[in-house]
Parts: sequence; structure tokens; C-alpha cells
Amino acid sequence: MKICFIVAMQAEAQPFIDRFGVSEAPGFFMPLPCKMYQTDIDGNKLYVVLNGQQQGSDLVGCEAASVATMAAIQQLHPDLVINSGTCGAFKKNGAAIGDVYISNGVMFHDRRVPGDDAWGTQSLGNYPIFDRAAEIANAIGFKMGKVTTGSSLDMQPCDLQIIEENHGELKDMEGAAVAFVCSLFKTPIMLIKSVTDLCDESAETFEIFKKNLAMASHAIADANEKVINYLLKKS
Ligand code: ADE
Repeated sequence: MKICFIVAMQAEAQPFIDRFGVSEAPGFFMPLPCKMYQTDIDGNKLYVVLNGQQQGSDLVGCEAASVATMAAIQQLHPDLVINSGTCGAFKKNGAAIGDVYISNGVMFHDRRVPGDDAWGTQSLGNYPIFDRAAEIANAIGFKMGKVTTGSSLDMQPCDLQIIEENHGELKDMEGAAVAFVCSLFKTPIMLIKSVTDLCDESAETFEIFKKNLAMASHAIADANEKVINYLLKKS
């Protein structure tokens, strides 16, 4: 089996990279900024693809995630894509900082396109999720929730309205973009997200995100390892 993780930030991926001892293939995606790490696990392939950097900082957001996902699928031909990273969540739904979720749905929350229903529906996305996601979440004991994606770390009232109308629980900046590209290639995708901040608790999102990033990234490494072991039937 070939599993490809798509991760936005180096800091989010580093504990996972260290855990699995994946090695970098420098320049693999040239001229794209994406970075590729790989290792073999009992005849299976584990790839970790990062969005890469521009102007000295990690490329977060939908555009970079789409480019990384498309390059990864075309060059690595994974059987499964896993978008893993951090997210905001909602205290009112019972989320706490450091919680890990597996997603049971994914859509955009900041694409307000007037017109007919078809255009509005297409803009929101709601892409298919790997059909074993619920089985994996149940087996490992992770909560499930719907990821909604937007291009900003902050949350405007119009974002919240769409999130609430669509029962979104986990707010990120890449998930739906990764899922959009996977839907085009019919590559199964699952999303594993750990919570750095609570969108309904404080407006100081960036400060709280930075404070909890290292802890949440370790939680993601633990979760990713459990999912890999489950998929590859390792103990
Ligand atoms: N990643 C971590 N926290 C986030 C938030 N509140 N919104 C979007 N992406 C995030």
C-alpha cells in the first residue's frame, strides 16, 4: 500500500517525520516548493509531502495544498492520501485543545457564490471521504467531525454562519483543497486533525495557535502512527 500524507507546515510534520525516520528526497518536486520525505514499511510506502516555503515561511492555505496534492498524486500514485495537521474547533461541540479527530466530511466555508443552487453547492464542495474513515476512527477511538476549510486563520461572522448551517466542527485552511484534488483523481482521502485553538473561546487565534502548535503536532504524530499501524495491520 502507498500512503501519502499531505501536511502544510514543517512544525506540524516534524514529530511525525522524526517518529518514522522518513528521509527527504531533495528537489523531488522541482520547480515546485513542495518537499517529499519517504520510507518503506514492510514493503509498503510511506510518503510525507509538505507544501514547502515561499519568502521564508511555510505555505499554508488552499492554493499550496492543491499544488502539493496534485504533484503528489501525479508523481507518487498513492492508494490513500491523508491530510494531517492542526485545526480550530468549537468548545460548544465538546472539543478541547489537543483533541484529535478523524473527519467524516469536508467542505469550504468561505466561498459565497450567488447564483443557482448548483453553483453554490459546487463552491461549498462537500467532497467524498475514504469509506473506511469511520471504521478506523471507531477502532482507534478517535472522535469524528466535519472539517470546513477557508483561506484565513480568523473567523468572520459570515464564515461562522456557513459553518453552523453545515454542522462544521473543525476549521482548517487546507482540508477541502486536498479533498478537491483527490476527488478529481478519485484518490481516497482521509483527514486527521488535532485542535490548537477554540474558535468560540477567544479571538486571539494566532497567539493560542502558536502556543499549542508543538503539543498538537505531537498529538498528530501519535494519531498518524496509530492510523498507519491499523491500516498496515501492525501492532
Ligand atoms: N489551524 C489551526 N487553527 C486554525 C483555525 N482556527 N482556523 C484555521 N486553521 C487553523
